[in-house]
Amino acid sequence: MHKENNLQGRDFLSLQDFSAAEIRVLLALAKDLKSRQKKGGLQPLLAGKTLAMIFEKPSTRTRISFEVGMWQLGGTALFLSSQELQMGRGEPIKDTAAVLSRYVDGIMIRTFDHAVVQELARYASVPVVNGLTDLLHPCQILADLLTIEEKMGRLQGVKVAYTGDGNNVAHSLLLGCSKMGLNLAVATPPSHRPLPGVVAQALANAEQSGSKVFITNDPLEAVKNADVIYTDVWTSMGQEKEQAARRKIFAPYQINSNLVKTAGPEALIMHCLPAYRGEEITAQVLEGKQSVVLDQAENRLHAQKALLALLMGTARG
Ligand code: CP
Ligand code: NVA
Repeated sequence: MHKENNLQGRDFLSLQDFSAAEIRVLLALAKDLKSRQKKGGLQPLLAGKTLAMIFEKPSTRTRISFEVGMWQLGGTALFLSSQELQMGRGEPIKDTAAVLSRYVDGIMIRTFDHAVVQELARYASVPVVNGLTDLLHPCQILADLLTIEEKMGRLQGVKVAYTGDGNNVAHSLLLGCSKMGLNLAVATPPSHRPLPGVVAQALANAEQSGSKVFITNDPLEAVKNADVIYTDVWTSMGQEKEQAARRKIFAPYQINSNLVKTAGPEALIMHCLPAYRGEEITAQVLEGKQSVVLDQAENRLHAQKALLALLMGTARG
């Protein structure tokens, strides 16, 4: 098949599978689509195409931004709850992948085990997009890179401090920042550090990009001189039984006005949402002047439109 761009037909399971140059192409198209949409123009880059969206966990932003994004690109999206698919009754992933590939042009999935997305991608003949697993949340970080670039005018050398749980968002942030030359300090309790394998990948990326990656237990140390302070929920989807214990473990990692003061009045406050006020972030900081959380949420739409147009369509970056 002749390919219009080298992202066409690819899966998007992890930022690690894409080069810095390819991520720059995605971000540039996202910016372009965003500015064209603001001027009121429709961009039918995926006219007649269909995206299947399988959800095994709840979602507000991911579901709506993918659905609206497909519509704005002239295509359509199908919301498929795994409970209502035969997959929920035990139909193998590989059969689901092969059958869906006969109907649709792309599959987005939000699930628990990362191996499920990998298996789906292995057996699907259409691009598969990771809409969040227990391990990674690459679509979120793609949108966040767009937000940081818009606000700071650059990515290279920007210092991001992440405080809280070493979870899926922390993992994708590690991979995305280290690829794109941002410096990242991650502060977590010793018991909830990011996985060593992901940290090793980030350190290897950092060697290439010139970024600095630093893991600590101390949130104050992490946020020193930070341009961006980022956090996420303490209890991720699927961990609800641990909620009470997690509230205690993560209490010193809350983003509050004291922590923000350490970074300074210019630091951007980021959170992928949903947020739990009074847990990982105070209401004052979440809703304060430095917060860009709604820009992050909006940019899910623009970043994913670029992603879908490049993977499923013939758009050029
Ligand atoms: N940030 C994010 O992925 O939000 P949803 O869970 O609402 O999709
Ligand atoms: N870490 C969170 C992110 C939600 C968007 C979770 O997995 O629930």
